Amino acid sequence: MATGPGLRLLAKAVLLLAILFVGIQFVRPPLPHPPVTSEVDVPPEVKAILKSACYNCHSNETKLSWFDQPAPAYWLVARDVKQARARLNFSEMGKLPKGQQNAALFESVAQIEQGAMPLVPYQKLHPEARITPEQLQVLKAYLRRAAGNPATGPAEQAAADAQYAKWVQGGAPPVVSPAPNGIAFPADYKNWQAISSTERFDNHTLRQILGNDIAVRAIAENRIHPWPDGAVLAKVAWLELNDGAGNVRPGQFFQVEFMVRDSQKYASTLGWGWARWRGADLKPYGKDAAFTTECVGCHRPLEATNYVFTAPIGGQP
Ligand code: HEC
Ligand code: HEC
Repeated sequence: MATGPGLRLLAKAVLLLAILFVGIQFVRPPLPHPPVTSEVDVPPEVKAILKSACYNCHSNETKLSWFDQPAPAYWLVARDVKQARARLNFSEMGKLPKGQQNAALFESVAQIEQGAMPLVPYQKLHPEARITPEQLQVLKAYLRRAAGNPATGPAEQAAADAQYAKWVQGGAPPVVSPAPNGIAFPADYKNWQAISSTERFDNHTLRQILGNDIAVRAIAENRIHPWPDGAVLAKVAWLELNDGAGNVRPGQFFQVEFMVRDSQKYASTLGWGWARWRGADLKPYGKDAAFTTECVGCHRPLEATNYVFTAPIGGQP
């Protein structure tokens, strides 16, 4: 039971909090609304979905709800909007080539499918912004239409065949330079096990996700929350080849990239080391070690899956 003096103390504390609450309202980082210069170029049904679910953060047309207005909620919202606009701004994307706009949309679909976007706390407060399965189908149908069919032609076929011939001839393995952040090329990735495969229909590549022994064992034992140190994931991409007989299959090798798990060594890049080699001559990707900010930027929203997109087949409880 609260006594007289106890109650007075409580009243004082409440009053103090109230004063503090009013006081912090005067600390308001600016949230500008620059003009919409070149909005993303998509059909109305696609834009309507982006508007209802994403524009509050990823556009210059942010509309705050009343409960987002008071600090400290406002501080968090302002920070999210700033970060979100810097990464992806649908109000300014229209000036990019169409292919780049569609690539950003494809990336958006990947984030939505992972449940990472709209941001999870935001989804809880704004259930109307959640993307429904029907809306997701609308977005995907548009991207499929926009992408058309992969290139077919004797040139692509010949290039792929030449690569294959060279590969089966064997010979000395090529000398591959390390990535700019020092990660050496894991040449034995070709012997790793397949975890999954995906098609990126906007830029017509087929991808296979592979794992080293530690990764594959972690999947089998369901120890991927987080992934253990030593696990390495690879993603190999080939250009799609439409053989004209109704088959789409891998054509020329495009790139291979890796995520190397070491929670200590790579603590500053989400606990993963990032590396990518591109083209048949396996040229290291990136001017300097800062290339990893690109990788981190895209994978960071996937905190719930330890920054990994791929849900291994059979790896989930
Ligand atoms: C509440 C604000 C908010 C909403 C709403 C929101 N996002 Fe985001 N989004 C962010 C923030 C913040 C980031 C940066 C996250 C980070 O780096 O950790 C981000 C990052 C992204 C990225 C990664 C961009 C990159 O290349 O780095 C994509 C794609 C994305 N959001 C798509 C969407 C889509 C599509 C929607 C609507 C379905 C959406 N977001 C709704 C806040 C939001
Ligand atoms: C534009 C967004 C984006 C960027 C930038 C990006 N990734 Fe990814 N990454 C993805 C998506 C989406 C997947 C899921 C597989 C797929 O759809 O092909 C993925 C999957 C992977 C995988 C397989 C494991 C997993 O998470 O599913 C590896 C390895 C990988 N990426 C490495 C990298 C590296 C290294 C970089 C930087 C050089 C990078 N990624 C940059 C979007 C991105």
